[in-house]
Amino acid sequence: MKNPYQPIEAVIEEIIQETPTIRTFVLKPKELIEFKTGQFVELSFPGVGEAPFTPSSNPNIKERLDLTIMNVGRLTQFLHTLSKDTILGIRGPYGNGYPIEEFEGKEILIVGGGVGLAPLRSLILALFSKLEKYKKIFLCYGARTPKDLLYKDQILQWQKKIGVRITVDTGDESWKGNVGLVTSILKDLPLKMDNAVAVVCGPPIMMKFTTLRLLELGFKPKDIYLSMEKNMSCGLGKCGHCRMGKYYVCRDGPVFCFEEIKDIHDIWE
Ligand SMILES: Cc1cc2nc3c(=O)[nH]c(=O)nc-3n(C[C@H](O)[C@H](O)[C@H](O)COP(=O)(O)OP(=O)(O)OC[C@H]3O[C@@H](n4cnc5c(N)ncnc54)[C@H](O)[C@@H]3O)c2cc1C
Ligand code: FES
Repeated sequence: MKNPYQPIEAVIEEIIQETPTIRTFVLKPKELIEFKTGQFVELSFPGVGEAPFTPSSNPNIKERLDLTIMNVGRLTQFLHTLSKDTILGIRGPYGNGYPIEEFEGKEILIVGGGVGLAPLRSLILALFSKLEKYKKIFLCYGARTPKDLLYKDQILQWQKKIGVRITVDTGDESWKGNVGLVTSILKDLPLKMDNAVAVVCGPPIMMKFTTLRLLELGFKPKDIYLSMEKNMSCGLGKCGHCRMGKYYVCRDGPVFCFEEIKDIHDIWE
């Protein structure tokens, strides 16, 4: 039987510097890794470590997958020193992913904060392949400064198909757009809340205040989908590192609707 912890080799085909602290690694695995948008993989380098990342690419493209990675610590700092043609290890995909079939016939509000736009790019690209099935798609995205905004050129293309609103916490002399936290642009939304779902991904504090705002706007807890980030180890529902109430985030998530988890203590930590 195949060892579930044994990674598949994947070669770095391209590295895109997205922001001063975020790079996208375009990987070509030696065996096909088919993933559903919102699922995650465990990425490793021998002797350095392993960590979970959610592919940011279109799940309909099977030969390659993109991981958009922020430099925050030991492994990610090391990954940012690597160059093209380096071989990494990948195992997965794991978790449930976004239930995009349930979004059909609805309006979809997508709210991203910082590197949280990475999994949401995969979601947006997956939705684009069946755009006629959704009533409307509207993206609200916030980053710390204009330099920290991800996928700027692609967002310009997306704007031809979906509504987009962007904000930064702190502007600069060149920035003419919104300034303020992402919650500050969650107002006067051109959506009918009674037939809308919201999909949120970002740092825990952003997800907390975004969820509270969405509830104020009339979204029901069952219509708010959150990508929960808990420290992980096995990724397979065995070690218990990612426990959140009765759930293992790696196995039962990482995507939960707020209704499922709203009564669990400390979900935002
Ligand atoms: C399901 C899932 C999907 C993710 N997808 C992405 C992604 O697409 N892009 C991306 O840049 N990051 C993503 N992350 C976060 C990523 O796994 C962490 O940034 C990474 O583990 C940090 O490893 P490190 O060795 O560089 O940092 P460390 O040296 O371990 O720690 C640096 C800092 O990051 C925090 N941290 C460490 N591990 C995690 C973790 N698993 N979750 C949250 N914070 C952590 C620590 O508390 C510390 O403050 C995801 C996390 C999960 C659980
Ligand atoms: S990471 Fe081991 S149970 Fe979830």
